[in-house]
Amino acid sequence: MALIGPSGCGKTTTLRMINRLIEPTSGRLEVNGRDVINESLTELRRGIGYVIQQGGLFPHRTVAQNIATVPRTLGWDKSRVADRVAELAELVGLELTMLDRYPDELSGGQQQRIGVARALAADPPVLLMDEPFGAVDPIVRSRLQDELLALQQQLHKTIVFVTHDLEEALKLGDRIALLNVGGILEQYSTPDELLRSPANTFVEQFVGEDRGMKRLALKSVAELPFETGPVIPDTASSSEAVATAEAQGVEWIGLICDDRFGGWVRVADLANGSVPADAERFPPAAQVTPDSTLRNAMELIMTSRTSVAVINDGGHFGGVVSLDAIRRSLVSEPDL
Ligand SMILES: Nc1ncnc2c1ncn2[C@@H]1O[C@H](COP(=O)(O)OP(=O)(O)OP(=O)(O)O)[C@@H](O)[C@H]1O
Ligand SMILES: [Mg+2]
Repeated sequence: MALIGPSGCGKTTTLRMINRLIEPTSGRLEVNGRDVINESLTELRRGIGYVIQQGGLFPHRTVAQNIATVPRTLGWDKSRVADRVAELAELVGLELTMLDRYPDELSGGQQQRIGVARALAADPPVLLMDEPFGAVDPIVRSRLQDELLALQQQLHKTIVFVTHDLEEALKLGDRIALLNVGGILEQYSTPDELLRSPANTFVEQFVGEDRGMKRLALKSVAELPFETGPVIPDTASSSEAVATAEAQGVEWIGLICDDRFGGWVRVADLANGSVPADAERFPPAAQVTPDSTLRNAMELIMTSRTSVAVINDGGHFGGVVSLDAIRRSLVSEPDL
């Protein structure tokens, strides 16, 4: 879950409330369906890893000692701590040679990884992350985001991820909570719903005028209904080719040979009755894979002279994506 909103709206306060560094003045606080207000603080915090805003590493402790903070408080013996530290370093992509260094000798990205490793040390089911990638450049940031997604595939934690970057929230959150100043919850929904139907003008302004384009970046080609497109087997006759092209109102037709896309041919080249397989072939200018985003597919179609992008599914022909199908995916209401 991603928690997002303008500075001072209470994101850090919310995280601090979840592990009860701050006590709520009203309302219930449930972790795993249990009201935790009356439970032991130590028990609660043992189950929650916390990646603090701005790193929060101990500067006078080595990387290994930083990562080992919680296991040491829990009284693990030395060899178990050392094993766990090595395991975590590998998990978050830190070289073992870094472990004896001090945090300020490392890059911003490496420091962020240490923060994540430290929070994961005792394998808590819940992870609170307060703008963990806020202080790194966009390229490292994007890589850390991908790594977190991959890590989550493996670990299946409950993560509350604070950010003030909408793109980051859309990319990482399965749900997004958008807060406003004063701790007001403006909307809590899936990323697609946030963009598709903003709850009010604040949300609408927050997500921006290009929310349709942002939605296209969340959807993949594989989510569209299958569309064969204007294609024929390369064994087809010229009259079959012309008939297909006329039926679909296109000037180019694709040839399929053995389940593979064999190139586009001009329908005009077939007018004299020549066999499609012998016509001059043009490789697909717009080509996507099933996991390409619709935004990417649209861009390829717009910048090529074709009206559809060919889906290359591991070498096999996987149908086509048309601008019309992309448009339909934006206007259709999935709940209907
Ligand atoms: N619901 C609330 N009730 C009372 N005080 C609040 C509430 N939400 C936030 N505050 C106060 O507002 C201040 C800023 O809150 P907080 O640090 O949580 O903001 P933030 O969203 O994390 O901002 P930033 O993006 O700058 O990190 C704090 O002093 C906090 O005590
Ligand atoms: Mg904050």
